[in-house]
Amino acid sequence: MTAVQASALVSGPGYVEATRNGSAGFDVEGVRRQFPILAEAPYAKPLVYLDSAATSQKPHAVIDAISGFYAKDNANVHRGVHYLSERATEAYEGARAKAQGFLNAAHTQEIVFTRGTTESINLVAQTYAKTHLGVDDEVLITAMEHHSNIVPWQMICTERGARLRVAPIDDAGELLLDELDALVGPRTKLVAVTHVSNVLGTINPIRRIVDIAHARGARVLVDGAQAAPHLNVDVAALGCDFYALSGHKMYGPTGIGVLYGRRELLEEMPPYQGGGDMIASVSFESTVYNKVPYKFEAGTPDLAGAVGLGAAIDFLDGLRHEALAAHEHDVLAYGIEALSEVPGLQLIGTARAKAGVISFLVDGVHPHDIGTILDREGIAVRTGHHCAQPLMSRLGVAATVRASLGCYNTRQDIDALVAGLNAVRETFR
Ligand SMILES: Cc1ncc(COP(=O)(O)O)c(C=O)c1O
Repeated sequence: MTAVQASALVSGPGYVEATRNGSAGFDVEGVRRQFPILAEAPYAKPLVYLDSAATSQKPHAVIDAISGFYAKDNANVHRGVHYLSERATEAYEGARAKAQGFLNAAHTQEIVFTRGTTESINLVAQTYAKTHLGVDDEVLITAMEHHSNIVPWQMICTERGARLRVAPIDDAGELLLDELDALVGPRTKLVAVTHVSNVLGTINPIRRIVDIAHARGARVLVDGAQAAPHLNVDVAALGCDFYALSGHKMYGPTGIGVLYGRRELLEEMPPYQGGGDMIASVSFESTVYNKVPYKFEAGTPDLAGAVGLGAAIDFLDGLRHEALAAHEHDVLAYGIEALSEVPGLQLIGTARAKAGVISFLVDGVHPHDIGTILDREGIAVRTGHHCAQPLMSRLGVAATVRASLGCYNTRQDIDALVAGLNAVRETFR
């Protein structure tokens, strides 16, 4: 476990103490001022935004970078010789270098821009898995995956005659590592696992999973959608083969994401889509593909999106990771403790290592009713299956309420949520 993962631990004897200690050294009010949307007042109530796992809000720096790109730099990239095209190319490739630094990838060629985590996973399924899966081979996922890390594997397994296997979790929402270990066999070609669960908040022990998989010759893809905003992601330290993330969950724009892939794997993989920019030369008889990562970036990319993602990475870097992790840990621990005291409330997901997410149920009240009543109080939470229906089945619930945190959340937001839940209980008494 890395130092950052350890700092995200919220259960066990340490967590009450952490609650009392607060999060000195993190100027959350200063951070909040950078997010214009936090001044909005739904139903004339102060906005309490607790839905960052669905999408985070955007700081001025990201909004300005996007409008600045369109106002000053906009042109198509790579093929132009003119001034603006060179500026746009520099901005786009600059964002790639920022993503490389953010993930601690060895080369910029290992950073493929995609539309987001979903597209990154589909890319690996339709290229790497398509060429490596044979009849009766296996892809191993876990019981806590988002549909994005289930359906692409189901599709490719069906196509190739391969099998999808599922590593189980315990009732707290932790992976059963021994069982996962036993499921990685000679037929396992790929293990695809989420770094942080979007429903449970569980932080998975990726390095250990990578060691298990690599020892049996399987590759590992990590779904980092919920980890990138909270953890210090280091693909070199994790040792994974692929890492997928979405810009919009880490304070960047929608429509842009990253697939990190080891260079030697990306080089051997066939392209994902055909079109402009992914080629070196084309004739009617045949095509020579471009080098990586361009081989995987057919067509005009989301240039402004990449620039916005670069600005989001700068924003996150500027928060200083240790201080941000301590702050988020404090609010999460405070939230878990405060919600545990709400009568009739059941926490869903009590893993020892958690980040960013608190899911719960309230006795006798449907999650959608809770979400609707909280909304009228200006509190934005998400209710439903959170794109994880198999996990809901495993937990024996149809839906949960999910409060999810970002860098701008405070203990006061948790207090508002608790007050809102008390109002819910009054309504349903
Ligand atoms: C764990 C996880 N994986 C994948 C995704 C899909 O991300 P996107 O819709 O940005 O592609 C999400 C989105 O909620 C997620 O939480």
